Amino acid sequence: MPLARSLSVTSLSGLEDGDEEFDLEDAVLFEIAWEVANKVGGIYTVIQTKARLTSEEWGENYFLVGPYVESNVRTQVELIEATNPILKRTIEKMNSSGCKFAAQCEEPPHIVAHFHEWLAGLGLVLCRQRQLPIGTIFTTHATLLGRYLCAGNVDFYNNLSEFNVDKEAGDRQIYHRYCLERAAAHCAHVFTTVSQITAIEAEHLLKRKPDIVTPNGLNVKKFSAMHEFQNLHAQSKNRIQEFIRGHFYGHLDFNLDKCLFLFIAGRYEFSNKGADIFLEALARLNYLLRVNHSDVTVIAFFIMPARTNNFNVETLKGQAVRKQLWDTAHTVKERFGKKLYESLLVGQLPDVSKMLDKEDFTIMKRAIFATQRQCQPPVCTHNMLEDSSDPILNSVRRIGLFNSSADRVKVIIFHPEFLSSTSPLLPMDYEEFVRGCHLGVFPSYYEPWGYTPAECTVMGIPSISTNLSGFGCFMEEHIAEPSAYGIYILDRRFRGVDESCNQLTSFLFQFCKQSRRQRIIQRNRTERLSDLLDWRYLGRYYIAARHMALAKAFPDTYVYEPQEHTSTTGFRYPRPASVPPSPALSRHSSPHHSEAEENDDDEHYDEDLEAEKDRVNIRQPFKNRSVPGVNG
Ligand code: UDP
Ligand code: G6P
Ligand code: GLC
Repeated sequence: MPLARSLSVTSLSGLEDGDEEFDLEDAVLFEIAWEVANKVGGIYTVIQTKARLTSEEWGENYFLVGPYVESNVRTQVELIEATNPILKRTIEKMNSSGCKFAAQCEEPPHIVAHFHEWLAGLGLVLCRQRQLPIGTIFTTHATLLGRYLCAGNVDFYNNLSEFNVDKEAGDRQIYHRYCLERAAAHCAHVFTTVSQITAIEAEHLLKRKPDIVTPNGLNVKKFSAMHEFQNLHAQSKNRIQEFIRGHFYGHLDFNLDKCLFLFIAGRYEFSNKGADIFLEALARLNYLLRVNHSDVTVIAFFIMPARTNNFNVETLKGQAVRKQLWDTAHTVKERFGKKLYESLLVGQLPDVSKMLDKEDFTIMKRAIFATQRQCQPPVCTHNMLEDSSDPILNSVRRIGLFNSSADRVKVIIFHPEFLSSTSPLLPMDYEEFVRGCHLGVFPSYYEPWGYTPAECTVMGIPSISTNLSGFGCFMEEHIAEPSAYGIYILDRRFRGVDESCNQLTSFLFQFCKQSRRQRIIQRNRTERLSDLLDWRYLGRYYIAARHMALAKAFPDTYVYEPQEHTSTTGFRYPRPASVPPSPALSRHSSPHHSEAEENDDDEHYDEDLEAEKDRVNIRQPFKNRSVPGVNG
């Protein structure tokens, strides 16, 4: 019998204090998910962002398995020949005779197969039923029944222990899928999920307590210059402003420089994602801004894919009109410049009254005529297939926010498609778009993790999440005063819908009252939290899960030695010494301030100096910490 290897999760790459006492040379890892190279939602982000760290650990022995979608393969996959002979033979066999499994070698490697979500779970169940010598992990990123129950307006969290799960699944016609999910959770050597809140849900609905919680991380970009992310915000914001100029042509009766861009994004689950209370809060915010005579205009984007048959004409026309005005201005500028040049060449100062001639005016009048518009700027960028029953459009109709002049909240630009840099309408990818916005609003009721606010954080954009989302709870646990860092956490657990909606309105209204300077300072603070969400730290939970699976499947070879069962509660980001209790008061953190100063563009540096002292305390959040969450 070979010597048992001791697996200690602090010994791997990416972590600071390594004691490389074993290697995984004859172990192979397969990770199987529907969202491998196939973007649907956040599971794609988990797999895609985690790949780098995982391959640092497993090298050539790491394989991702996903559905073969021709367009995705063309754009996201680099085709290579398998070099490993066993793998090569397996692939040849699969290709020639359908999908039969063949691991035909004398000394089989130690295989770990990690399945994500119920769709891939069937593979896990079959592996176990056929007694294949494989260590298995099942990660659920949500429970099917949880998603369905929440979407159906059930008081979910107060009744978790009460549900008759088989009946509820049957009533919702998801019984077979539910059974598959539950079977995968029970068959796995190691069962994991993405947050504590979903761990509790899984225990009640799937009847197995997760062995370990694996929070989702991101790859954090480190910029060499401190303010690079602020510059990126300004650049991306300019591009969004260009889009707005086109979208609101003929109705640009508000100051774009005083516009705040808010957005919600993700799979289109109207109430689970909190789009319902966001809309209601926008209506209330509109009222507050109007009665307070605010000069701020709020533009709210909804980026949620729905069924459409392409962009609508009015929206495309807006961008065409903007382009035409730009071209006209450019033409007149050229003609003006030529006359100016000619005048200077003959040693004369130009006669300004003659610089524009009749033709110039005709060109400009014609261009202005094209901006005449009988209708309001559209609230949706696409032709919706289910226009009359669409929940966002129906709410817009009910609350009456139709982008009219009097409204301070221009709802709504509903873009029912994920963003893309190749779009003829808004040619930005999602990351660029997020950087250009001021606030992400994610008031979810059902959200096992919630990547969208996490992505905002690492880009230095403040966000609103909830104490029912994995991300919100995680941040609440690790930050003494989240709102000081631009992490607003809405209470949806202990308040009714109307009260939560009031709280959301109040967050939004307070945000609108901030000066530019306060927003810049707040973005700096938000960005400082990035380390907390880096796979370099959070990757250790996945590492622990794989080692646990190896040890359970191959006990003669591997021994899993969990570190002390400490929990992450030991670590909290302190309230930064430079931060007053609320962002609204942050102007007083600077001894010499004035209105003009607050609106100054270039105010980040003094805040950074102040914040250097905070920085010392908050670097490397999990350094020297052992793995929390194992068996609770
Ligand atoms: N997303 C995207 N393009 C968009 C809007 C969203 O790629 O235009 C991505 C976003 O980056 C995030 C994911 O969609 O990673 C949504 O994940 P989340 O965990 O927030 O929710 P899910 O949809 O998985 O429930
Ligand atoms: C960044 C840029 C500044 C710009 C500011 C706008 O911080 O570095 O030059 O003035 O963004 O901030 P705002 O919140 O008004 O979009
Ligand atoms: C699911 C959840 C989402 C989570 C994502 C990745 O789609 O709805 O909250 O962030 O998976 O784990």
